[in-house]
Amino acid sequence: MPYVLVLYYSHHGAVAEMAQQIVRGIERVSGIEAKLRTVPTVSADTQASKDDIPDDGPLYCTEDDLRDCAGLVLGSPVRFGNMAAAMKYFLDGTTNLWLTGELVNKPAAVFTSSSSLHGGQESTLLSMMLPLMHHGMVMAGIPYTEPELMSTSSGGTPYGVSHVSGKQSDIPLSAEEINLCQAQGKRVAELALKLSK
Ligand SMILES: Cc1cc2nc3c(=O)[nH]c(=O)nc-3n(C[C@H](O)[C@H](O)[C@H](O)COP(=O)(O)O)c2cc1C
Repeated sequence: MPYVLVLYYSHHGAVAEMAQQIVRGIERVSGIEAKLRTVPTVSADTQASKDDIPDDGPLYCTEDDLRDCAGLVLGSPVRFGNMAAAMKYFLDGTTNLWLTGELVNKPAAVFTSSSSLHGGQESTLLSMMLPLMHHGMVMAGIPYTEPELMSTSSGGTPYGVSHVSGKQSDIPLSAEEINLCQAQGKRVAELALKLSK
């Protein structure tokens, strides 16, 4: 069964919750499934390393997980207007896949969460697209035929779904954000099936 890889990094849980909703959207499409994976935190040489298997939650993504996906949905919190170092570090380790062109023509989408409304969601989403475009992936945003793009007063952008988590990271996903997460997952799943034919 082909799968869409939902690959994310999350520290406080907001991006992880979005990932769950994106999986639900993928699961609405028959003939394809979702695979949920995360990436480890990064540390300096002087800091201790952790086990290869996380204490809880999804497994860490392997090169095979990424190589064999039919589509990708990539998520990271906003960190000073950019993706988190953990996700950047993971992507920086994908040179083999770039050399062999194994992600070329596969659909991809990006998602993010920030604490503040104007805290850099769009810049983060756009910067997350760059390495995926170097890999030859076909970027899928969210079209304005999704009505929540107009009605949302928190997250949601045409570049990818987003969430505003608040200063204490305690604001739950809004109804609009949930719908957009699911729409994004569904769209990438449908595109993956079409592009892999
Ligand atoms: C180092 C660091 C930088 C951050 N930079 C921003 C920022 O530029 N804009 C913003 O609105 N939130 C920023 N945040 C807040 C996170 O983006 C926000 O809490 C996000 O929802 C966390 O996602 P998570 O719960 O999946 O970890 C930053 C947080 C950290 C730890």
